[in-house]
Amino acid sequence: MSTKKIGDVILDVQNISLRFGGVKALTDISFNVREHEIRSIIGPNGAGKSSMLNCINGVYTPSEGSITFRGKTFDHMNSRQVAEMGVARTFQNLALFKGMSVLDNIMSGRNLKIKSNLLLQALRIGPAEREEIKHREFVERIIDFLEIQAYRKTPVGQLPYGLQKRVDLGRALAMEPQVLLLDEPMAGMNVEEKQDMCRFILDVNDEFGTTIVLIEHDMGVVMDISDRVVVLDYGKKIGDGAPEEVRNNEDVIRAYLGTSH
Ligand SMILES: Nc1ncnc2c1ncn2[C@@H]1O[C@H](COP(=O)(O)OP(=O)(O)O)[C@@H](O)[C@H]1O
Ligand SMILES: [Mg+2]
Repeated sequence: MSTKKIGDVILDVQNISLRFGGVKALTDISFNVREHEIRSIIGPNGAGKSSMLNCINGVYTPSEGSITFRGKTFDHMNSRQVAEMGVARTFQNLALFKGMSVLDNIMSGRNLKIKSNLLLQALRIGPAEREEIKHREFVERIIDFLEIQAYRKTPVGQLPYGLQKRVDLGRALAMEPQVLLLDEPMAGMNVEEKQDMCRFILDVNDEFGTTIVLIEHDMGVVMDISDRVVVLDYGKKIGDGAPEEVRNNEDVIRAYLGTSH
């Protein structure tokens, strides 16, 4: 649908399996993500989508398999290390500080980038002050980009749900990620809020060149904005390809029409 240039493989998921006690959340999953791509992961509830993102960003350690990011392969990596490598995420269930302002929540996403020691920062002297100004400016740019200037000082808990999701996106963008993992960013939104979120995702992808891995239930949205789609069902990969390819895949159609879930 677009003329954008897709690059080399930036993220390569190889033979990932994940078990929770007796539950096989993921079985031998492999797929890759190319630079600048919008790569969607779809599948019925409980298919393993969130678990897959949690493996990529180091929250879960897979029982088998490995993940390669920009040519560097890892099988054990904590979420901070993954974040430092340039992978950020938003959450299916919001993980914002409800009592804190929009500005401070987005600033909290910036913490990884803040290098001066805490004492200098607290005293706001020398390099720490210059650094703080630089970070504040960056956060203000994100606030402008997401069109939430009017709520800068508002505690996040007082905002409508759709705007809270937008702040969560802002917090992830504050990390200046190369890869952004979005777990159902449009869940629970009304049509208008969905359209806005869709536009922001496309703009982030386009203007910042950020690679996006998207979990989404709204098939219209998925078919519209994805470059390629992975389909999971009961922890297994049952489809992988361009949207129209996946849409016509017999296994995928069966999984979605199946009466079992
Ligand atoms: N922390 C956990 N502990 C135990 N089981 C889990 C945990 N997280 C996910 N699961 C199980 O793993 C399977 C996949 O879940 P999940 O990745 O959340 O699916 P999806 O995001 O596709 O709805 C489900 O059967 C779920 O119950
Ligand atoms: Mg999920």
